[in-house]
Amino acid sequence: MQIPSNKSEVAAETPQIPKHVAIIMDGNGRWAQARGLARTEGHARGADSVRETVRECRSLGVKNLTLYAFSVANWDRPQAEVRALMQLLAHFAEQEKAELKERGIRLNVIGDLDDIPNGARKAIDDAMACTADCHEMVLSLALSYGGRHDIVSAARSLAIKVKAGLLLPEEIDEQRFQTEMTTHSLPSVDLLIRTGGESRVSDFLLFESAYAELLFLPIMWPEFRRRHMREAVQIFSSRERRFGLTSSQVNGDGGHSFDPHDSVNAAPAHSEVAAASSARG
Ligand code: FPP
Repeated sequence: MQIPSNKSEVAAETPQIPKHVAIIMDGNGRWAQARGLARTEGHARGADSVRETVRECRSLGVKNLTLYAFSVANWDRPQAEVRALMQLLAHFAEQEKAELKERGIRLNVIGDLDDIPNGARKAIDDAMACTADCHEMVLSLALSYGGRHDIVSAARSLAIKVKAGLLLPEEIDEQRFQTEMTTHSLPSVDLLIRTGGESRVSDFLLFESAYAELLFLPIMWPEFRRRHMREAVQIFSSRERRFGLTSSQVNGDGGHSFDPHDSVNAAPAHSEVAAASSARG
């Protein structure tokens, strides 16, 4: 067996599998309009890409896949488009629940399922119940979802608990904060993909993507196929994630972390920064 000589070759052989992939499925409308089709045709083709992506993630061993299916802002789209999207969601849930169950994939929702019209809501509830005991992977659909909204709701809910004397302000840390969010059962996002050629995160998983690798792809979502998912994982695998550390630290030869109480590190009586700035006048 040949020993790979650099990091990207290692990645090509044994890709690092992200635990949580999140996708902003953008470009449905433009894909359809470029072909003289209604925007809703683009969404329908986008549902095929969803099916392929779920299958590929399952076979790659990705444990969590979260798809931005409908944002809080999407309610302001033309009524006919919103209705078509809700029908597609209902259809997807009805059609896919058996396969999801067979493949051990639990369907989950983040955002606000209460906002979703009855027909789609019932289909999604059924599919969630049908897959409730699946443990191989979690497919989360972000529905009526907004990242800022989720953060603000969590803050409000913590404030109510503090006011009621159930929680002390000093007990609130990042972990406790996350327990109040609709993503509470999900790990942090490792890889955030956006198709459609735009480079923005559009209010998706703002808290959860703090250290996510971002991948912006020029292709439109209806064109996204299993091979694109595989390539995305390869790219993820070739990146060095440092989480604020240095490259040497990440690779295990970076020395000790800073200890402010070590005498070597003790702050000088007059800090050098202050001295320099007062010298500058
Ligand atoms: C963004 O493309 C896409 C959406 C707002 C909806 C995503 C929905 C699907 C992929 C279909 C169904 C989903 C599931 C889970 C079955 P856009 O319409 O903003 O595209 P544009 O930027 O080209 O106009």
